Amino acid sequence: ETGPLRRGRLVRFKGVSVEQATVDQTLPTISDDYTYQAFIPWGTPIEPGATRPYNGEPDRRPTPEEASKQVGLGHDGMWFFPEAPEFLDGPQRYALGSNRRGMLCVNHEYGTNPHALGKSFPESLTDVRLSQNIHGVSVLAIEKSFRGWDVVASPNSRRITVNSRVAFSGPAADSPLLQNPAGNVPLGTVNNCGSGYTPWGTYLTCEENFNGYFGANGAFDPSARQARYGLSANGFGYGWHVFDKRFDLTDPAYVNENNRFGWIVEINPFDGTELPTKRTALGRFKHEAIAIAETPDGRVAAYMGDDQSNDYCYKFLSALPWREAIAQGVSPLDEGTLYVARFNDDGTGDWLPLTIDNPLLAAEFADQAEILIFARAAADILGATPMARPEWTTIAKDGSTYWTMTDGDGVFEGGGAGYILNTVDANGSAGDSFIWTIFYLCSDSAGDPDLAFDDCDAAYADPDGRLFIGTDGGQLYGLQDQVVVFDTTAEDPQPVRLLVGVTSDEITGWTHTPDQRTAFTNIQHPGNGNPALTNFPLPYDGVTIPRDATLIIEKKGPGKVGS
Ligand code: FEO
Ligand code: CA
Ligand code: CA
Ligand code: CA
Repeated sequence: ETGPLRRGRLVRFKGVSVEQATVDQTLPTISDDYTYQAFIPWGTPIEPGATRPYNGEPDRRPTPEEASKQVGLGHDGMWFFPEAPEFLDGPQRYALGSNRRGMLCVNHEYGTNPHALGKSFPESLTDVRLSQNIHGVSVLAIEKSFRGWDVVASPNSRRITVNSRVAFSGPAADSPLLQNPAGNVPLGTVNNCGSGYTPWGTYLTCEENFNGYFGANGAFDPSARQARYGLSANGFGYGWHVFDKRFDLTDPAYVNENNRFGWIVEINPFDGTELPTKRTALGRFKHEAIAIAETPDGRVAAYMGDDQSNDYCYKFLSALPWREAIAQGVSPLDEGTLYVARFNDDGTGDWLPLTIDNPLLAAEFADQAEILIFARAAADILGATPMARPEWTTIAKDGSTYWTMTDGDGVFEGGGAGYILNTVDANGSAGDSFIWTIFYLCSDSAGDPDLAFDDCDAAYADPDGRLFIGTDGGQLYGLQDQVVVFDTTAEDPQPVRLLVGVTSDEITGWTHTPDQRTAFTNIQHPGNGNPALTNFPLPYDGVTIPRDATLIIEKKGPGKVGS
């Protein structure tokens, strides 16, 4: 039963039933108490009139030039930055500001060749440029009117793609391991998966499976460290390396290009002239997402997962209180310590510092830069705990951290459907130890069609105590991927189903306006790009190419989303 004690007082809406959600899976199904607006599908001009839109016409795709001015594919992590923001004190630091206007940053994680190109392999550099230009990040000015939400003009709107100029900062910025004999300036961000945001009002985008975009035109024998990051001769089949030497692992002019990806990138949504900056102090791995908490002494602690079977959970702790760092003109994310987690069987854990003054690491690495660039290899040496695919992190109202472990291999697999972990650090996020508990095993809900959800992935804890979970993986009872909501303050928290997506999609990313009455989430890879399955966001016609899009969610009548 799902009585009030289990659901809690924070989550009272009517959950979506399996029957409701399986009638028509060509469009999303939302709770009867809610409405949604599909927004900024792939191909929407970043600014009104900036370029010809792409509307899913099956007989053409955008040109690379058009794609560089349009919303991309693979909508994933996101954050809404209200106009006139103010930040509250406390562990979560929510922004105050406009509920009707602001900047929306959206990641474009990936687009498979047929979906983006209309063919299974690129045939020219032009094809590769199109593929590259549908990746990256969109920064859009958006505004609510009587009609709903619209994209509006702003000097700070922009598309950041695989070919946009970026900067490196922090301890590894000047490392020779990040320079190429070609002398090329740092360009681009790729496979932008989950996201985060800082108390100083910037967006953080996370480079996850960057390895798949590299390949080899000649014989390629990966070094042990390259193998540890999954670099291979064929990559994921994008074929960029065939026409763009920058992604050819065997081109001597670009030997270190692969080291330039796998970072967390900071973007200022309110200054379109500032370069996206790769923060090397946060380490290089397959970054899923990042969540920042403030410590009692004003430093920032950033919690990050490395999404691979048997990979690790990390924390970065800044050296300075963030306000002091900003006042000195340095980024709080450039100086500090990177830690990796060891989970002990007794419910405690330790944060192990990845620093060159550890003799075990000094024996294998020349300097701190090399440790950060090959953080996975350093973490291996310290005996970090292999986890079952760490995905998103989010900071709860009480300052603890929720982590989603999706379906994967690790020391604790949690019934094969993923699980939600909670950690509480000693000394309010500043400590080098923690206590861990399992908040929820997804497999526990398998016997009840009203509760069932699998493969937890996206996670967002709101300021009141609700926890929103987006899924990515096969669901029971014929359901598609979904969003469920927990009241974490309930006696026995149980999921309530808010939203179910369309055939072969996943649902990811979560953000809201300061009043929490408008929320945003993403429908990613609807139909896996196949128009015979769905033509989302349009009603079914069997022909129009389905496009990733954002759903803007509001309650029918007043109320916070999730209530
Ligand atoms: Fe891009 Fe691990 O999800
Ligand atoms: Ca994910
Ligand atoms: Ca996943
Ligand atoms: Ca995914």
